[in-house]
Amino acid sequence: NRVVLAYSGGLDTSVILKWLQQTYNCEVVTFTADLGQGEELEPARRKAEMAGVKPEHIFIDDLKEEFVRDYVFPMMRANALYEGLYLLGTSIARPLIAKRQIEIANMVGADAVSHGATGKGNDQVRFELGYYALNPDIKVIAPWREWDLTSRTRLIEFAEAHQIPVAKDKRGEAPFSTDANLLHTSSEGKVLEDPWEEVPDYVFSRTVNPEDAPDTPEIITIDFERGDAVAVNGEGLSPASLLAKLNDYGRTHGIGRLDLVENRFVGMKSRGMYETPGGTILHLAHRAIEQLTLDRGAAHLKDELAPRYAELVYNGFWFSPEREMLQAAVDHSQAKVSGTVRLKLYKGAVHVIGRKSPNSLYSEKVVTFEDDQGAYDQRDAAGFIKLNALRLRLLGRRDR
Ligand code: ARG
Ligand code: SIN
Repeated sequence: NRVVLAYSGGLDTSVILKWLQQTYNCEVVTFTADLGQGEELEPARRKAEMAGVKPEHIFIDDLKEEFVRDYVFPMMRANALYEGLYLLGTSIARPLIAKRQIEIANMVGADAVSHGATGKGNDQVRFELGYYALNPDIKVIAPWREWDLTSRTRLIEFAEAHQIPVAKDKRGEAPFSTDANLLHTSSEGKVLEDPWEEVPDYVFSRTVNPEDAPDTPEIITIDFERGDAVAVNGEGLSPASLLAKLNDYGRTHGIGRLDLVENRFVGMKSRGMYETPGGTILHLAHRAIEQLTLDRGAAHLKDELAPRYAELVYNGFWFSPEREMLQAAVDHSQAKVSGTVRLKLYKGAVHVIGRKSPNSLYSEKVVTFEDDQGAYDQRDAAGFIKLNALRLRLLGRRDR
């Protein structure tokens, strides 16, 4: 029997690798995804080899383009924000990892998959809903819910007893738990667990402190086609390189930091710190191009659907009929969402300062307070208001 492990090469998944081999006496296949987390992935190969994984059973895949094109962008089209603020950087990566794990399991004839998420969080749910949706008969092994390594100390003892290298700073207490990809870096736990205490500077890894950001603003443009960003400053870029470019701008100007207390799917509240530099710029820019190109009815319906969409992604229901239905509606709405947005980046903030589109519904002729040469007849508004007021007047007569 074989099991495909989502393997980062870090301490936790290295311990899990060993533990799986021992506990289940199985052949472990490792899968390491490059989602743009900005880490060297070759060390993961060496560590897996050292742990006895066959070279042909070590999978290291660059999924950056697929991640941004097929997961991040569709979600951006929906303007999804969980609880009004969180851009879902971790949530959106899990279905892709799950999908690739199942593909690998099919390729190597494995009947089980495994991951390193704890039994307290959202990630276990997201991974496993993905697995079961794509392979209803897959066996899932979640070591954190099974083993007796209930503390950091015991985990490290296990590692040392099995010649698993423990990085110096991982001895004793790890400072906090992180997850990173092209869209964001999240940090939770340890120093962040008191929601009253300000997040210390050393937790931030991919944005400068807005207080130290340049004193001169920077102006950029983003071009959209059918709801997707396709160019920055007129330069056409692939989805992943476009997001990487916006991440650079966001880093420099300290954009996209978020300190949030959120409701996990399993029921508890948790406090996290997020850095989503490029995603924050993209989200606002997308809203700006929609301002010009979406009809009010479509836009307002979209705004009602966005929290539902976000909750589905957060709770791990990416591969669900309801998410696909919402996606179809969202994608339909984007047919005319093309054009250019001009943004000013300055000390932690993104300001929309201009937008234009060949599909604009904005009519200066209609809206102007100057002479509109008959484009709009102000007398029409009288009847419009009178009929809208009818029921309010009837109520007023009865009740006031
Ligand atoms: N709370 C976030 C989410 O559920 C981030 C979780 C990421 N995990 C971590 N180890 N920091 O999407
Ligand atoms: C974890 O539990 O492994 C990380 C936190 C989460 O998934 O919410």
